[in-house]
Amino acid sequence: MVTAKEIVDMYISSFEKKGHKRIPNAPLVPENDPTTLFTSSGMQPLVPYLLGEQHPQGKRLVNVQNCFRAQDIDEVGDNRHTTFFRMLGNWSLGDYFKKEQLTWFFEFLTKGLGLNPRKLYVSVFQGFNDIQKDTESEVIWKQLFSSAGIDPKDRIYFYGVEKNWWSRSGLPQDMPTGEPGGPDSEVFYDFGPELHIHEQSQWKDKPCHPNCDCGRFLEIGNSVFMQYKKQEGGRFIELPHRNVDFGGGLERLLAAVENKQDIFQTSLFQPIITSVENATGYTYSTHARQMRIIADHFIAATFIAAGSIKPSNKEQGYIVRRLIRRGLDNFYEIAGKDIAGIIEQIVEQYKDTDPELANAFPNVKSILLAEEQTYKQTLHAAKKFIAKRYKIGDELKGLTEIAADDAFALVTTHGLSPSQIKSLGFIFNEQKFAEKMKKHQTLSKRSATKKFAGGLADDSEKTVMGHTATHLLHQALRDVLGNHVHQTGSNITSERIRFDYNYDQNLTDEQLKSVEHIVNDKIRENLPVHFEMMPLSRAKETGAIGLFDNKYSDKVKVYFVGNYSKEFCGGPHVDFTGRLKRVKILKQENIGHGQRRIYAVVNPKS
Ligand code: ALA
Repeated sequence: MVTAKEIVDMYISSFEKKGHKRIPNAPLVPENDPTTLFTSSGMQPLVPYLLGEQHPQGKRLVNVQNCFRAQDIDEVGDNRHTTFFRMLGNWSLGDYFKKEQLTWFFEFLTKGLGLNPRKLYVSVFQGFNDIQKDTESEVIWKQLFSSAGIDPKDRIYFYGVEKNWWSRSGLPQDMPTGEPGGPDSEVFYDFGPELHIHEQSQWKDKPCHPNCDCGRFLEIGNSVFMQYKKQEGGRFIELPHRNVDFGGGLERLLAAVENKQDIFQTSLFQPIITSVENATGYTYSTHARQMRIIADHFIAATFIAAGSIKPSNKEQGYIVRRLIRRGLDNFYEIAGKDIAGIIEQIVEQYKDTDPELANAFPNVKSILLAEEQTYKQTLHAAKKFIAKRYKIGDELKGLTEIAADDAFALVTTHGLSPSQIKSLGFIFNEQKFAEKMKKHQTLSKRSATKKFAGGLADDSEKTVMGHTATHLLHQALRDVLGNHVHQTGSNITSERIRFDYNYDQNLTDEQLKSVEHIVNDKIRENLPVHFEMMPLSRAKETGAIGLFDNKYSDKVKVYFVGNYSKEFCGGPHVDFTGRLKRVKILKQENIGHGQRRIYAVVNPKS
């Protein structure tokens, strides 16, 4: 039986044979992309290249990318949704297009993985406004099915933008200006017509089809023909070249190979589910929903925590907290006591494809166990808060009715979810509570949108400026502190830049001033910025600095800021440093492990 690891190896090598270069699995928490908290698809680190920047590895790329989709958190519990998954990806940056892409993926499925072509169905874009129906893909699919001896009639389905358009922001109308996107063509695996359960499906009175939600069909791969960019005013223009962005879910491909309609019963998840059964004493057959949530959420939390994210009340930390707590709620619901065995099994299952997980294990385990303790204390504090307000004892018996305002306080100040409040034995007026929450969410959404709306997409200039500013800052820190100092991380939003480096002391005011001074001198000199592609060995010879951990590349891109700085980087950057106007250092922090962090702004108002 083919394993998940073998699927990855087979896919990568088949695309390497077709001239693709393997690129690394980018960090789950993206650097320098403020538009999102997590990497949620393989194309995300490639946005600048899809928009037209030259990639150092060339025009054909392949990889397997760890992805996390927080928006799917509430969908987990059915037979196919997970928040964490691995995406097989291949890209053409202005090279091959529909014919090669669809043919190669079909061959990978039928010849590589040995799937029966009779089990495959496809969808194609039906057109929208000025963007034409994709008859080109239709013709290609017809030929592919015919060549496999299958009548293409009833194999190819057309859908609109809701199903066959892809961009990071979804529908064309939801895309910010500058965002790339395009029509796509998906492939579905058929688990058999008997699964079309009419009562449960919104399509219950209609014939089943690939996008029916009955569970008969599973989407296993998506070829996006990324050739458009959203313009000011909502229209679309062609990108400098036509790209292919393909993504296929590894867990789903495995489900198709093993013909398991429930991905949690595949060889990848099964041992983890068994560890949940052992830790709870319940069986999967009676408690599938809880066990799927426990497995998925602890897997996702393990991967996020392995990237050194600790549970907290904001951004990525908040998501990992939610995952752990929701996982624990379901775990306690089925009498689970000790989560350690589950985490161990998760590492066991993923260490073949993600060896770094094994090293991170002790740290991950302590993060998860510490959060479990924090959560228990939170639950205890919440009970005490109510007990005091309602003058009842700590030991609640039966249900206690509390005011909607108090339920709201438990959510907003204690961080509990409504279902957690109920599981503590408190009931409240749900309608009043929902109204309060709605008002609160609209407000927080407004500030979150503001916060994450920056980035490469709609405020690209500011982010690009921030990028160039970090190169200047990096070199200036070395000028002042010595050449042993180097970048250990960075994060850029449209509002500020954040730069981490190795140094074991706080900088004196003098040192900070000198660094800022040097950066601003280089801005005033209006140095030209350009890049060169070169073999890694030569780049090292030039003395280029910067984070460089691409173990697959032989060619790299080096950005030069005049003669002042040389740094490994994907770009993009401003063309002249004068564009930055001025950089102001806001503060420094000690972030532990011998590292400091600097916050700065580009072109500050004051
Ligand atoms: N980027 C495309 C997706 O995530 C392939 O589905």
